[in-house]
Amino acid sequence: MADWRRTHTCGDIRVSHEGSRVTLNGWVNTSRAYNSQVFIDLRDRYGVTQVVFEATSGPDAPGALFQKANQAGREWCLSVTGLVRKRLPGKENTELATGSVEILAESIEVLNASPTPPFEVTEFPGEELAGEEIRLGSRWLDLRRSSLQKSLMLRHRMISVIRRHLDQRGFVDVETPLLGRSTPEGARDYLVPSRVHPGSWYALPQSPQLYKQLLMVAGFDRYYQVARCLRDEDLRADRQPEFTQLDLEMSFIDQDDVLGLIEGLLAEVFREVLGVDVPVPLARMGYDEAMTRYGSDKPDLRFGLELVDLSAWAATTEFKVFREAAEAGGAVRAINAKGAAGRFSNTELKPGGKLSEMVTRAGGKGLAWLKVEEGKLTGGIEKFLGATALASLPGLMDARPGDLLLFVADEPMKSAELLGDLRVHLAHQLGLLTGKEREFKPLWVVDFPAFGFDKEANRWVSNHHPFTSPRVEDIPLLDSDPGKVKARAYDLVINGYECGGGSIRIHSSDVQAKVFKVLGLEPAQAREKFGFLLDALKLGAPPHGGIALGIDRWAMLMVGTANIRDVIAFPKNQRARDLMTGAPAPVEPRQLKELGL
Ligand code: AMO
Ligand code: AMP
Repeated sequence: MADWRRTHTCGDIRVSHEGSRVTLNGWVNTSRAYNSQVFIDLRDRYGVTQVVFEATSGPDAPGALFQKANQAGREWCLSVTGLVRKRLPGKENTELATGSVEILAESIEVLNASPTPPFEVTEFPGEELAGEEIRLGSRWLDLRRSSLQKSLMLRHRMISVIRRHLDQRGFVDVETPLLGRSTPEGARDYLVPSRVHPGSWYALPQSPQLYKQLLMVAGFDRYYQVARCLRDEDLRADRQPEFTQLDLEMSFIDQDDVLGLIEGLLAEVFREVLGVDVPVPLARMGYDEAMTRYGSDKPDLRFGLELVDLSAWAATTEFKVFREAAEAGGAVRAINAKGAAGRFSNTELKPGGKLSEMVTRAGGKGLAWLKVEEGKLTGGIEKFLGATALASLPGLMDARPGDLLLFVADEPMKSAELLGDLRVHLAHQLGLLTGKEREFKPLWVVDFPAFGFDKEANRWVSNHHPFTSPRVEDIPLLDSDPGKVKARAYDLVINGYECGGGSIRIHSSDVQAKVFKVLGLEPAQAREKFGFLLDALKLGAPPHGGIALGIDRWAMLMVGTANIRDVIAFPKNQRARDLMTGAPAPVEPRQLKELGL
């Protein structure tokens, strides 16, 4: 038997190889049989090459090769040897890099047969894929799909450019423990019982946060890690229970140093991986501005539809809902959906209608609306507002005939968030993002409030994490008015996704103790949980700060998918299950007994 090992990949062969004898290894992508010819498209991760088996070709008995090829079904694994020839004129396939040639087979070896696969691996334009749950159940087969392979290869390129960029700048890659103590990043921990210490538990890291800070105390100065993080939280299209961060930390720096480093890195990755130029430095927007203009701390800047604060105007209207909201310290905000009056029927807009339901489902009290016609405003709340308010509105909202005005009255933040969600929904529905799939509008959101008040738990919680430094000038407010304290924290936002977050850290044990106090941790508790950190900070901790970028989310954006599972080889489904291995799964009673459970 001739050597079955490949001389080329299925993506290599070009017209310049005409006349050479080559051996390809791969899987049957498609197979078509005619009277005297079998065509097999052989696939590997490099491409697809057409192989022709003719009834009379091959050194064996006439027809033997043809017969063998005819048996090979989809996803069989083959080795084929033959001569490269040009395709007949008119038979070229311009979609394929190898589309001008084919291999005239001389021999075939079946490396492994396959039963009929549970779904089609080949992607045909315009055809829907098999359901995701079915594909996740046989992920090894799904991963043969060319678009998934491309996505994982793109992700690999991102990470190799990132490593090179940071290696060149003196960053040291240090691994931190998976079995550790709970790190408060705001999600639930995955816990691991200890066999040796019954009743005690490790926590899997939500991030390497504390370890990287301790590395700074140790003098590593510039650390990075492509780190796996685990968070037991409710899943969404852009969230997984285990995900990957590019985690980094630097000493003797300020916020500008971190942002500048990441901007350079971002630009290099976009340029090298996608050939896209991202102009840096990036815009920086304060949290307050992001909320008032976009109703979100992760604004998508690819479209307008900015929010307008009409609270002052609302107090002058005769409409009870608006006036009472304004008088009670709430806000009335609005969006002018330019030219969209004709796009929504009154039924969709009315209470119970689709658009209005969007707002009430999200916890809003209602959606008010007006359509702009030549010289007048109609529909919705027109009859409630009163002449004066109606007359001043078009000026406040730059309203022109054909526009649709949408209003929400609520508590100030709530009204902004409700309209922020509506803004994104409208952009999709009005097609404002069509053709902008490959446009990237990254920005920094900065000056976050350090704490938010958790009404249910009746206490302050960190917006980023408890190790984030307050602005120096706000430190006195820690005692008197924590709600007013701004954090030295920053988020990297791209096209409406939070792709990264970081901060300058507290490097004084006194300030750290104060922040723990705001968060309701008694000194004894703080000592018990974070004594090691407080001790380390006392021992000459340098000023330091850092960031973590969500590699999966960033990869999603670069690939152009809205589904995080498309950039992870073996993801969990929306209910945190691995449909392939069946994890999580029951274990033997013996195992539980050993753990004292
Ligand atoms: P943060 O919690 O903001 O910060 O996380 C950083 C980034 O990680 C990504 N991310 C996720 N991606 C997928 N699935 C998830 N469940 C998920 N959760 C977070 C996001 C996010 O911006 N220790 C700090 C970083 C620091 O301060 O340096 C941290 O973990 O893109
Ligand atoms: P009502 O006076 O309750 O009949 O409401 C009149 C209109 O105002 C309806 O279209 C409601 O959906 C809308 N509406 C009610 N509450 C609010 C609110 N808080 N913000 C915006 N619109 C509201």
